[in-house]
Amino acid sequence: MLTPTEKIWHNGRFIKWDDAKIHVLSHVVSYGSSVFEGIRCYETVAGPAIFRLREHVRRLVDSAKIYRIEVGFSMDQLCDAMVELVSVNNLQSCYLRPIVLRGYGDIGVHGTKCPTEVYLACWEWGKYLGEEALASGVDVCISSWNRIAPNTLPALAKAGANYMNSQLIRMEANINGYSEGIALDSAGYISEGSGENVFVVRDGKIHTPPLGSSVLPGITRDTVIQLAQGMGIPVIETLIPREMLYIADEVFFSGTAAEVTPIRSIDRIKIGIGRRGPITEKIQSEFFGIVEGKRPDQHGWLTPVPQPVVAH
Ligand SMILES: Cc1ncc(COP(=O)(O)O)c(C=O)c1O
Repeated sequence: MLTPTEKIWHNGRFIKWDDAKIHVLSHVVSYGSSVFEGIRCYETVAGPAIFRLREHVRRLVDSAKIYRIEVGFSMDQLCDAMVELVSVNNLQSCYLRPIVLRGYGDIGVHGTKCPTEVYLACWEWGKYLGEEALASGVDVCISSWNRIAPNTLPALAKAGANYMNSQLIRMEANINGYSEGIALDSAGYISEGSGENVFVVRDGKIHTPPLGSSVLPGITRDTVIQLAQGMGIPVIETLIPREMLYIADEVFFSGTAAEVTPIRSIDRIKIGIGRRGPITEKIQSEFFGIVEGKRPDQHGWLTPVPQPVVAH
């Protein structure tokens, strides 16, 4: 459950957590017209730091552009506001949730006459698939639901409406006793999890579906690709048939929420050695080393959050 913090940022000013409300007839409620982000702020040895803030804000602005939503704030303004948000709420580590939505005013589907509301919220949050999952791996299934097809709902946009599809995938998986589901694209190739990108390791090479397979261009996906390339591990973006997962040496998820999570079985078929494999472990340890500030941030991925001055 959510643990409330003190403040939420709304259209340029901080308001109380409980005051961040919208009208039931806001456009977004009927038509799903929101775009949003999920970002993590990590507690590093040098204080809190937001991971890949600018890339997340860029994707937010891109998502809004695809849907012709006028954000009304620049990328710099949004980045600065998010740093301030973590600082005013006095958090060491948290999850940040910027939301841009079409608000209250006009009830037609068209929506461009509705005002844009921009909210930035954050709260303390732990591991998405559980602490244990990071070490032992999770059991997942191939979903009976396909991912959104090209030219239906744009997969490159992180839009609220896309998550109706994610809900179907996730609910089905959980009800059947799996931690997560992996959806196929409309052509039957591997796409992604309900909230994670997928990586498949075989013979020392990493494979991941291309953006054309209806995947979200994950910021963690990009992080994994850059880390692997930096370690000299080849990464191939290619169409992946379902059965390639069953015969893989390792399969893992990436995502802001899931971070880098190994997959130990798919459809009850054991993957590789049935627990975290060596390449997954290497990527994981590099990833956590950087986000926790224990390894040099060579890529400039961390934005430090100034600590509030404590009065004595
Ligand atoms: C459908 C989907 N795919 C992939 C991801 C991973 O993206 P990122 O690494 O940017 O969090 C997410 C999470 O945002 C997601 O919701």
